[in-house]
Amino acid sequence: MKISIYATLASLSLALPAMAQDAGDATKGEKEFNKCKACHMVQAPDGTDVVKGGKTGPNLYGVVGRKIASVEGFKYGDGILEVAEKNPDMVWTEEALVEYMTDPKPWLVEQTGDSAAKTKMTFKLGKNQADVAAFLAKHSPDAGAEAAPAEAEAN
Ligand code: HEC
Repeated sequence: MKISIYATLASLSLALPAMAQDAGDATKGEKEFNKCKACHMVQAPDGTDVVKGGKTGPNLYGVVGRKIASVEGFKYGDGILEVAEKNPDMVWTEEALVEYMTDPKPWLVEQTGDSAAKTKMTFKLGKNQADVAAFLAKHSPDAGAEAAPAEAEAN
């Protein structure tokens, strides 16, 4: 009995940093997204602009819970396409977004196992990443569905 309580406590404290990281502030994130909008719009399927933005990068509406590199018609680079190919069921989680926007290249290297993997996104966000992820999650109807695939992905 005691052992299982300790085990539970141990796993709880391990889970804490991840949870804290997820607790972004969507309102702050919306402002921070100004740094992304030169290249990314957030536009709903009915054409409503959440954020008017550029087309250098894919539309980020609904990105949380969405499959990696899956915006139709967008010409993704080989690196991120390889991630999608190797992990056909993988979807963007807030956690993965935080890592990706911090620096896309190491994330691609980690996901592909290819140290030469290249990204077409020439931008890194050094702070408030969790806020931006929370803002994007707010405009992601499938965000709630992220828990199950994220767990499967861990193996
Ligand atoms: C200078 C232009 C530029 C800026 C600024 C930029 N991005 Fe990107 N982003 C891109 C490009 C280009 C891609 C496609 C990457 C590829 O194909 O390798 C991309 C891809 C992405 C993807 C993958 C989407 C998918 O469909 O799988 C996410 C998520 C993303 N960007 C988030 C962000 C966020 C959040 C910010 C702001 C913190 C940001 N980007 C700023 C150009 C940019």
